[in-house]
Amino acid sequence: MTIRILASSPLVGPHLQHLGKRFPELSVAPYRSLAWKMGLASAEALVVMLSNQVTEADLQMAPMLKVVGTYSVGVNNLPLEACRARGIRVVNTPDVLTDATADLALGMLLALTRRFAEGEALVRSGGWKGWAPDQLLGIGLAGKTCGILGSGPIGKAFARRVAALGMSPVFWARENMAPVDFGAGVAPRLPLEQLLPACAVLSLHCPLTPETRGLLSAERLRLLPSGAFIVNTARGAILDETCAMQMLHLGHLGGVALDVYDGEPKVDPAWLAAPRTVLLPHLGSATKETRSAMAKVLCDGIAATLEGKLG
Ligand code: DGY
Repeated sequence: MTIRILASSPLVGPHLQHLGKRFPELSVAPYRSLAWKMGLASAEALVVMLSNQVTEADLQMAPMLKVVGTYSVGVNNLPLEACRARGIRVVNTPDVLTDATADLALGMLLALTRRFAEGEALVRSGGWKGWAPDQLLGIGLAGKTCGILGSGPIGKAFARRVAALGMSPVFWARENMAPVDFGAGVAPRLPLEQLLPACAVLSLHCPLTPETRGLLSAERLRLLPSGAFIVNTARGAILDETCAMQMLHLGHLGGVALDVYDGEPKVDPAWLAAPRTVLLPHLGSATKETRSAMAKVLCDGIAATLEGKLG
């Protein structure tokens, strides 16, 4: 059978199966397996995961390719320039994962500032001796400033959540200095050099691009005030993890919550022993509803391209 649609994994929900019924020449094979590589020769559509780093060499092996769909909002795993040059459409899954990702970031922030992991460990250890006035004291968020890198849908959704806790969201200004209407208020934008010293909390919600890679460099991280918290549900390579860890050990940072890592799924083992951290395995969009909705967006985009309905 000639493979027309080549997916590197099954997706959540029925949408990939439905796509396979409309286009019977669909095959699921692990990324870079022999079957996957062989499928490239005839594939008109690829479905890849955010962990699949697609290269220009892959595209060269796929002369029939019309569309690459990634099961993520982030497209940093795709060779965008090469796709453009070859007229290959890129499909991703924006919007449907906004709430799930913002919810997770908020949960991580609360887990960090209210010390969920230490409290749970204490109860599970059997060693909890009872309530005490100064036991596992956390940090309150109301009245404090939350810096948000990224003023797209997820950054705005996170702003709504922290505003509901009584925090003041402030967005990173790139070229655009206009205040951001985040749907439950209007927040200012500041250049990083002014934003960082003002942040009790810094949350990352921007895509990984050449501009944002290494954006939170050691030099910039040192602008954060003592006790600041960092939450990263965006991409690991935006943050200088080594510097963040050093600052944590020195007691300069109040805590770091990571859902994403530079070079994931490898996690620097030093994080595992680092104090005041929340470490999750890239769960930003991981709800049943969201992953199914993402699959629908992706499969609809691929079907429309193959049917010639999208450019
Ligand atoms: C994505 O889809 O790009 C996000 O990383 C989900 O967490």
